[in-house]
Amino acid sequence: MSKMDFSKIATEYEEYATVQKSASEILLKLLKIRTNDDVLDLGCGTGHLTRKIRSLSNGNVVGVDPSEGMMREAIEKSKGLEIVYEIKSAEDIDYVESFDVIFCNSAFQWFKDPEKVIKNCYRALKRNGRIGIQAPAKKIYCPNFIEAVEMVKRDERTKEIFSHFKEPWFFLETAEEYKSLFEKCGFKVVFSKIETITTEHTPEDVLKIFSSGAIAGYLNQDYYNIKLTANYISVFKEIVRKAFEYQAKKGMVKLKFNRIFLIAVKE
Ligand SMILES: C[S@@+](CC[C@H](N)C(=O)[O-])C[C@H]1O[C@@H](n2cnc3c(N)ncnc32)[C@H](O)[C@@H]1O
Repeated sequence: MSKMDFSKIATEYEEYATVQKSASEILLKLLKIRTNDDVLDLGCGTGHLTRKIRSLSNGNVVGVDPSEGMMREAIEKSKGLEIVYEIKSAEDIDYVESFDVIFCNSAFQWFKDPEKVIKNCYRALKRNGRIGIQAPAKKIYCPNFIEAVEMVKRDERTKEIFSHFKEPWFFLETAEEYKSLFEKCGFKVVFSKIETITTEHTPEDVLKIFSSGAIAGYLNQDYYNIKLTANYISVFKEIVRKAFEYQAKKGMVKLKFNRIFLIAVKE
């Protein structure tokens, strides 16, 4: 069975990425993009927010993401729009004083070397430029997902392979810790807050939301030091589907996400 990375879920991503979308609206409000801002969308995915940013500013708009599948979708859907896309990891960007704003929605948790990325962003911003991030935060970033994955951990059919899973995500427990990380890299942090956002969905939709992001970690061969089998993947999906059904009250699941919202300025 091939790995389940972002390229595998790219074509359905936008339809199901509802939690990323609604959180992005809060981030956009906090960032207040102006009509002449040059903007970098870091970890842009399929570019649905890059296109939104394009509609807010007449400046240069660049989207960066290492996933070829996501970028294929982004380029296809942005035809005729002046957006430059680069297939690259945030760890490898080498812009110098090129942007007024860096927008980073639901991608920070995936960075392998967050400190290097923050330093790259500092270099990439013009003076008085600002960066805004929104990302899942805290080890228990979503109690619903953690509870479902706990069942995978305990189930006789999946526990052996799951014991070889190494979580790829970067999470800090407090807004203060996120703030310190950005300050260490030279930024002045003007806003840092972890919010618990609760939305209600049917169990099927919770599974779709899980499949629009978390699954690119939990079922990605790169994060196991043992070969994933087709049976493991299908039983894993079955267990989480049942877990979300079990979490429903009167047909609806209260889906909780802890999210960091942070705005920092390069003075
Ligand atoms: C949940 S998606 C978010 C996409 C988009 N920003 C949104 O809000 O819908 C996470 C994205 O982060 C990207 N990503 C993962 N590791 C990355 C890295 N090291 N540098 C830049 N982007 C990365 C993935 O390829 C994926 O497209």
